[in-house]
Amino acid sequence: MMKSCRLLSLLVLFALWTLSPSSTPADAVAFAQTSAGTSISSTQNRAASSSNTTEQGTPSSSQAEPLRGPVQPVPFSHKDHAGTLKMACEYCHTLSRSGETLSIPRASFCMQCHQTIATDNAGVQKLAEYAKTDRTIPWVRIYELPSFVSFSHKVHLQHGATCEECHGAVAQRTRLYKEFDISMATCVNCHRARQASTECSTCHMLEQ
Ligand code: HEC
Ligand code: HEC
Ligand code: HEC
Ligand code: HEC
Ligand code: HEC
Repeated sequence: MMKSCRLLSLLVLFALWTLSPSSTPADAVAFAQTSAGTSISSTQNRAASSSNTTEQGTPSSSQAEPLRGPVQPVPFSHKDHAGTLKMACEYCHTLSRSGETLSIPRASFCMQCHQTIATDNAGVQKLAEYAKTDRTIPWVRIYELPSFVSFSHKVHLQHGATCEECHGAVAQRTRLYKEFDISMATCVNCHRARQASTECSTCHMLEQ
């Protein structure tokens, strides 16, 4: 994106911010959804019963997980892969060279296993289609900051922040949703609590 364009949008946003310092409607919706707790989808039950260790019937203080969040092009379940199968987050999400972003695996990566595992599953067949034509899976993004905010995974992980702290109980989610608010207030609150900088320029590049 063009830099001048970015700077202009930041200036406009500064103006908006002074007029209304409240959080965005999107955040409000996310929070409302978090506390809603409605229907239980059959997909979840199917996914849970397809693995040896089901979590159904396990004593738990919380209710069964309702499916929230966007429908993904392939119904990938963190609960099955990171939960039941205990695959490490870093196995699939590797740090980019700059340390800012984490990768989301390509279809061919998943096919290392799914060439032979669960090949009769409809989701896996869809996955195989993407891999065959080497198309990028158009995952619907859950956490995405506007381009005028700097954020580095590496720095936060080095300072002891955990995935769960910012993304919730991912390993228990059949489908991901935005359960953690990544608004400016959340960033600034934690920065205050951990004596990290709250200067505007820490998170917003006003020059260059
Ligand atoms: C710790 C990081 C951090 C600091 C420090 C910070 N911001 Fe932000 N700021 C953010 C994030 C993240 C967003 C994007 C929020 C979103 O997408 O809802 C944002 C968004 C904004 C926006 C867009 C409007 C809005 O509220 O979403 C303005 C304007 C802004 N910041 C101004 C400032 C000013 C002025 C300061 C210094 C007083 C500052 N920021 C300090 C993280 C930070
Ligand atoms: C301090 C909070 C924080 C921590 C800790 C954190 N994340 Fe994130 N994560 C974010 C934010 C904010 C974004 C959005 C970044 C953006 O759009 O630039 C994000 C985005 C992502 C993405 C999308 C790709 C990307 O980099 O934008 C993945 C995948 C991800 N996080 C996984 C993880 C995993 C796995 C861990 C633990 C190893 C982790 N995160 C730890 C805040 C955090
Ligand atoms: C290390 C091996 C491995 C990798 C890598 C892997 N999976 Fe799986 N996957 C499995 C196993 C094992 C099952 C459970 C099969 C069963 O229960 O019959 C599974 C199940 C599935 C299912 C069926 C529904 C479900 O969740 O039970 C889908 C869809 C799926 N995986 C998609 C993916 C995608 C997309 C990727 C890449 C992001 C991926 N898998 C990477 C081993 C793997
Ligand atoms: C088998 C590979 C695999 C493993 C293991 C895995 N993930 Fe993921 N992750 C994915 C895929 C594929 C997506 C995109 C689809 C989705 O959002 O569910 C994703 C998406 C995400 C996102 C949302 C990114 C965005 O902004 O759209 C976060 C956050 C995340 N993973 C965190 C984690 C954490 C934390 C762990 C460990 C507890 C983990 N992942 C383990 C494959 C994996
Ligand atoms: C879990 C607490 C926590 C949350 C949430 C958090 N931060 Fe941080 N952040 C830290 C700590 C701790 C540091 C390290 C401060 C230091 O270097 O002493 C840091 C450092 C940074 C830095 C400086 C990076 C550098 O290169 O030194 C930036 C930029 C930043 N955070 C942006 C953000 C943004 C944007 C968000 C919200 C999307 C966010 N942070 C949310 C704790 C947090």
